[in-house]
Amino acid sequence: MSEYDLLIKGGTVVTGVDVIACDVGINGEQIAAIGTNLTGARTIDASGLLVMPGGVDSHCHIEQLEPDGSIHEESFGTAARSAFAGGTTTVIPFAPQFKGEPIGAHLPDYRARAQKSPIDYSLHQMVTDPSEAVVFNELPAIAAGGVGSFKVFLTYDPLHVDDGQYISVLEAAKRAGAVVCVHCENYEAIRWRSEQLLKDGKTQPAAHAWSRPKVVEREATYRAIALAELVDTPIHIFHVSCAEVAEEIARAQARGVKVTAETCPQYLVLSGSDMDRPGKEGAKYMCSPSPREAADHAGLWAMIRRGVLDVLSSDHCGYSFAGDKGKWLNGPDVDFTRIPNGIPGLAARLPLIFSEGVVKGEIDLPTFVRLTATNPAKRFGLHPRKGTIAPGADADLVLWDRERKVSITNARMQHTIDYTPYEGIEVTGWPVKTIARGRVVMEDDEVTTEDGRGLFLKSARTSAN
Ligand code: URP
Ligand code: ZN
Ligand code: ZN
Repeated sequence: MSEYDLLIKGGTVVTGVDVIACDVGINGEQIAAIGTNLTGARTIDASGLLVMPGGVDSHCHIEQLEPDGSIHEESFGTAARSAFAGGTTTVIPFAPQFKGEPIGAHLPDYRARAQKSPIDYSLHQMVTDPSEAVVFNELPAIAAGGVGSFKVFLTYDPLHVDDGQYISVLEAAKRAGAVVCVHCENYEAIRWRSEQLLKDGKTQPAAHAWSRPKVVEREATYRAIALAELVDTPIHIFHVSCAEVAEEIARAQARGVKVTAETCPQYLVLSGSDMDRPGKEGAKYMCSPSPREAADHAGLWAMIRRGVLDVLSSDHCGYSFAGDKGKWLNGPDVDFTRIPNGIPGLAARLPLIFSEGVVKGEIDLPTFVRLTATNPAKRFGLHPRKGTIAPGADADLVLWDRERKVSITNARMQHTIDYTPYEGIEVTGWPVKTIARGRVVMEDDEVTTEDGRGLFLKSARTSAN
C-alpha cells in the first residue's frame, strides 16, 4: 500500500536553509514527509527539477478600490491565474480605507470580494485616516480577526498620513501586536518638485522620476524608522529602491531597531530612463518610488546579500495601458502627476529574481527561497504553514526547470493587464508545475483555478490571536 496520496519524486528540494535530493510525500492538502524511498498513490516525476515552496507575494494590489471609485482591474480570479503561472501560491493584498470614512466602510466589501479568491490570501489593512474610533475600536478588532499588518503611506494624495497620524497607527499596532508597513517618500518634497516641473512644462512620464529623487525616499525612510523606534513598534518598509535608502535601514537594524524591508524586481531590472521611452511608452514603467538607474542594481543586490532587505515582493498593480495608465497621456493635457502609479509583476517575480539573482550568481538557492517565500511568510505570521517544505506545512510547491530559457511576453504573465514592463526580457529558469494545497494548478503554462478555493489565512503575528 502507498504511504502518501501524492509523491513528488526525484527532485532537488530547496528550502530556506537546505538543498537536498529527496522526495516529498503529500497527504490531502499537506506535506506529510520528506525523505527517500517513499511511495505514493500518484507520482509526479521531478527528476532534473528544483522543488521549492510556492511563492508568497506579500505586497500586491488586487481588486482594490481607489479613492476615485475605480477598482484595480486585476480581480482575485485573474490574479490567481497570474500568480500560479509564475509559481506563487499565496498573496497578501490590501483592504482600503479612505479619509473621512471608517475602515468598516470598505472592509466587509473587500472581504466579500476576496471570498471568490482561487488562491490562498492574507490581508494588510490600509490606514489613511486614523481617527480615535479607528485607532481604539476598529484596528484592535481587525487585528483580533487575523489581519496582522497595517499599511500607511507617507506620500500620495489623498492617502498620506502626517507624522502625528503615523505615530497613532504605530501605537495601535503596538497594542495589537501588529506590524506597520510603510510607503516611504516625503509628501511635501514631491509636491514641491512636481509643481516646479509642471510649471516648466515637464509633463511627460519621465518627470515622474525627477519629481522623487532618492533623497525624498531616504528622508522618509529615516523618519519612519525614527518614529517607530520612539514608539517601539516593528515596521516593514515597502519597495526600497536603492542602496542609499537601504543604508538607513541597515544603520537602524545595527542598533537593534525592529525594522525589516522589501525590494521588488522593478528596482533590480528596470531603470528611471525606461520612462524616457518615446511617446506614451514611459508610463508603463511608472511606479513609486521610481526605478533608479542600472548602476544602482548592484548596490541593491549587496543589500540583499547582507540581509538588510530580506523580502522580495512584486507590488503588482493592475492598471492597463489602454485604460487608466494611458488615459492621462492623450491630447495637450499630459500630466505625469495624474498617471496612476504601479506596474504589474505577479507572474514575473520569481523568474526575474531566479534569473537575475541565482543564475547570475548574486544569491544562492536557499536565499532565493527565503526572499520569495519563507521570509514573507514569517514576517506576516503565515509560517510554517506557508513558505517552507516541511511535514505539516501546506503542500504549496513549485517545480522549477533551472535551465529553461524564456522570453517574457505579456501573454505568459496570464494577468488581465494589457502589458508587462518586462516584455522581451530573457530569463533562465521557469516554473513547470505549481501545486497549491496538494492540487496541481499549473502544468506547462496551463493554469487551472477554482473560484472560492483560496483560504483566508489569519496572521499569527497579532498578540490578539
Ligand atoms: O507605484 C506603486 N508602488 N503603486 C502601488 C501603490 C504603492 O505605493 O504600493
Ligand atoms: Zn507603496
Ligand atoms: Zn504597493
